Amino acid sequence: MKRPKIFITRKCSEQQLQPLYEIADVDMWPEEEIPCPRELLLEKAGDADGLLTMLSDSIDQELLTTANKLKVVANLAVGFDNIDVQAANENGVVVCNTPDILTDTTADLTFGLILSTARRLMEAANVVKNDQWKSWGPLLLAGHDVHHKTLGIVGMGNIGQAVAKRATGFEMNILYHNRSKNEEAEQRLGATYCTFYELLEKSDFVVCLTPLTTETKELFNKDAFNKMKKSAIFINVSRGAVVNEEDLYDALVSGEIAGAGLDVFLHEPIPSSHPLVSLQNVVALPHIGSASYETRYGMMNLCASNIAAVLNGKDPYTPVRL
Ligand code: DGY
Repeated sequence: MKRPKIFITRKCSEQQLQPLYEIADVDMWPEEEIPCPRELLLEKAGDADGLLTMLSDSIDQELLTTANKLKVVANLAVGFDNIDVQAANENGVVVCNTPDILTDTTADLTFGLILSTARRLMEAANVVKNDQWKSWGPLLLAGHDVHHKTLGIVGMGNIGQAVAKRATGFEMNILYHNRSKNEEAEQRLGATYCTFYELLEKSDFVVCLTPLTTETKELFNKDAFNKMKKSAIFINVSRGAVVNEEDLYDALVSGEIAGAGLDVFLHEPIPSSHPLVSLQNVVALPHIGSASYETRYGMMNLCASNIAAVLNGKDPYTPVRL
């Protein structure tokens, strides 16, 4: 019997993909940091039964209509805004993502970004590395406290709840905004539900963890930043398009808010010449929310298991349901 074909759009660990090598002919784009060119992706998808994709690959109508044999797309991310899931399902293609496995790792990074931005860790580390440390100073690199402050989480899914759990250790007052109230999480974490604007007005740290949808696109705009405290720090570990970056830049420069910690950007990779990146009150990271060896290997393995399940006629472990 002919073995199915699988295309993997970025260099991944073959060891984690073992379930695929056992059942299929696997072809993998050999670069880790250079994306597979669109033309090649279209060509490969046209002949593939399964695709293992990255959040930087656009799995759209054009690709799906040419991919006649395609049965499954497994995205190496919990977010799936790069995939037209409805069009995929209409074409009989199952879409899978990697929820749960990355929750704690992404929450750790989110908290790291809160601490780095509030306590100016990057600036401080550079002072030492660049030999600029002259003496201990009473207000040298003074930042803002995190403990006992008010944390506002926009998007109280699994990662939001894991961030809230960490915040309890810092004795923070926890507010959240979500499409629906989660009374169980409120009780477990001591979190209080707020309207979006109430949260913006009351929070010292506003953390964006909401998925990118048509409703959340540019949710954080001039209006939202104007509502925040002037001392507030904005953290984004969701998707860049949830923010209007020009409005964020203006808010940071005019003192409408105090700082920002950003793991995601509208256009990735963001160049160092980008106005946002050049600001001293911005900590910018290259979209590393789930980037620990343990978690990324686990995500690869989950993608492989999802693809193998679908190609073996079984239910996938973590399908995306609209
Ligand atoms: C995701 O999984 O959606 C994250 O953005 C990856 O770090």
